[in-house]
Amino acid sequence: MQVVVASNNAHKIQEIRTALDFPGWEFVPLKAVASYPEPEEDGETFLDNARIKARAAHEATGMPALADDSGLVVDALDGAPGVRSARFAGDHGDDGANNRLLLEMLDGVPDEQRTARFVSVLVFIDADGAETVARGTVEGHIGYTEVGDEGFGYDPIFHPDVFGGTITMAQVSMEQKNAVSHRGNALRNLKEQLLAMADSHLRSS
Ligand code: IMP
Repeated sequence: MQVVVASNNAHKIQEIRTALDFPGWEFVPLKAVASYPEPEEDGETFLDNARIKARAAHEATGMPALADDSGLVVDALDGAPGVRSARFAGDHGDDGANNRLLLEMLDGVPDEQRTARFVSVLVFIDADGAETVARGTVEGHIGYTEVGDEGFGYDPIFHPDVFGGTITMAQVSMEQKNAVSHRGNALRNLKEQLLAMADSHLRSS
C-alpha cells in the first residue's frame, strides 16, 4: 500500500519510513504524486494544521495520507511560539532569527520558569477517509544561548529532561533524538494504534 506523506522534507519522510515499518507499506513524498498549491496552515492548533495538510493530500491523490504538525510550546510565553513556530520571527523557517527572538523574550526569566515542550501531532487518513490521530511530546527547558550543531529549528536552545537537562537537543545524534523526540513518540503512538486496529479487524473477520 502506498501512503502519501504531506511533506517534502526528506528527513521527516525517512523518520516515518523507519518508524512505521509495516510490510508492504510504502511512504511517498507529496511531490512524487501530486502538485497543488500548499494549503494555508491557518489552524489554531497543531491538530487543525496536521488535519488541513492530511486532508488536502488525501483529496488531491485519493490515497491514504499522513501529515504532521509540530512546534515548541514555552510556558512563560503562554504557549508561544506554538503553531507559529516556523515563522515566529517573521520569515518562514529562519531558525537563527526564531532562536534569537525567543531568547530575547525570555531575558530575565529564571531557570524554574523556562519550562517548555516540543509537540508533534500526526493525522493519518486511510483509503476510506477515516482518521487516526497520534500525539507526542518531549519535555525540557529553554537555555540561555545556542549550543550544538545537530538537528534543526529550536534544537540548539532546548534542553530535554530525558538527557538530564544539561545538554541541548542539538548535541545528540539523530538516532538519540528520534528515540526520545516528540515526533518519534507520536510515530510510536500511531504505530500502536494502527497495529491495534489491524488486530481487531483480523479478529472480527
Ligand atoms: P513543521 O511541523 O515541520 O512545520 O515544524 C514547525 C516548526 O517547529 C519548525 O520550523 C521548527 O521551528 C519547530 N520544530 C518542529 N520540530 C522540531 C524539532 O524536532 N526540533 C526543533 N524545532 C522543531
